[in-house]
Amino acid sequence: LLFPVILAGGKGERFWPLSRKDRPKQFLSLDGSSRSLLQATADRLIELGGGWDSLWVITSNQIAEGVRQQLPDLPSQNLLIESEGRDTAAAVAWTSLEIKQRYGEDAVIGFFPADHWIADQEAFAHTLSAATQLAASTAAIVTLGIKPTFPSTGYGYIEQGEKIGSFNELPAYHVNRFTEKPNRETAETFLSTGRFSWNSGMFVFRAGVVLKELHTHAPEIIEPLEQHGPDIYPQLPKKSIDYALMEKTTLAYVLPVDFGWDDLGDWNAIERLLKTEETPNVELATHVGLDTQGAIIYASNPEDVVVTIGLEDVVIVRDRNVTLVVKKERTQEIKQILKILQSDS
Ligand code: GDD
Ligand code: MG
Repeated sequence: LLFPVILAGGKGERFWPLSRKDRPKQFLSLDGSSRSLLQATADRLIELGGGWDSLWVITSNQIAEGVRQQLPDLPSQNLLIESEGRDTAAAVAWTSLEIKQRYGEDAVIGFFPADHWIADQEAFAHTLSAATQLAASTAAIVTLGIKPTFPSTGYGYIEQGEKIGSFNELPAYHVNRFTEKPNRETAETFLSTGRFSWNSGMFVFRAGVVLKELHTHAPEIIEPLEQHGPDIYPQLPKKSIDYALMEKTTLAYVLPVDFGWDDLGDWNAIERLLKTEETPNVELATHVGLDTQGAIIYASNPEDVVVTIGLEDVVIVRDRNVTLVVKKERTQEIKQILKILQSDS
């Protein structure tokens, strides 16, 4: 059995202005379906067999009420609320302590980002059952590796080592090296070797195993939490689990997976999901374009008319009082703009 945990405390800033403080990305539906990203993630996880009682969510104080509204069936004792976001290492540490306390150190836990798109639920469930078997039988930090398609600098990279066996008919490998968000040049080198996969951001392990690894590699996070409980949260260092643990542990394993995956990280993801051969642009607005191609155009009010002439590879977003126009290749920089705009974001 697996206890799935949704990491739902991120802000999703790169989807601004659609994502705002009061309406973070995980509360939105980006593919036009009626379920938000958070709800779709929960649906996928409760279908793994444990139902709502097995599911946990960790989120920040600011959006906890929204999480309750979006997931009314989540038991309240399975919702952990961070007084202040300290990134994912602290979130993993606190949740693992809580689950260990309730179910013991052999409880198998899976961490899942709230903002992924997954195409094939059956293959996803099959893979998770393999990951659960591996984590239950070995002192393993199990990662799910995605076949990379371009030298992204926004992902973690996993170098595959020796094969250690098969679980649920899926081969599992030792991880030689984990590198979080390499620069372009390093990412290109990784890709050219053929030995690397992208880290999907989902992790599976036993509570006792991850807590021991955190003691070894991130004592500055786990020790204060153990000693003082979550009251100490605002004083914890802000670090992601990828830097705090994955780059350091020698217990990492990878299952290469193939269930159709996308990290809905920024506006370009909309294009990967919705672009068809027949249309020159992705239009989620009333768009009248002359000589425009490769554009992603969104308006919260789909009747708003957006007119473009002679544009290529841009993102145009209209939401409430904001209009954003940005080159596709620079959508990562929305985060920087938000620092300037702080009060409005
Ligand atoms: N509870 C909580 N608290 N959740 C958080 C916090 C926090 O302080 N910060 C982020 N999260 C949640 C986000 O909402 C998201 O669902 C998940 O944790 C991952 O955080 P991101 O900020 O989206 O990470 P990333 O995309 O930069 O990188 C991670 O995911 C990639 C794949 O999508 C890494 O694991 C990479 O290695 C990986 O390739
Ligand atoms: Mg992400």
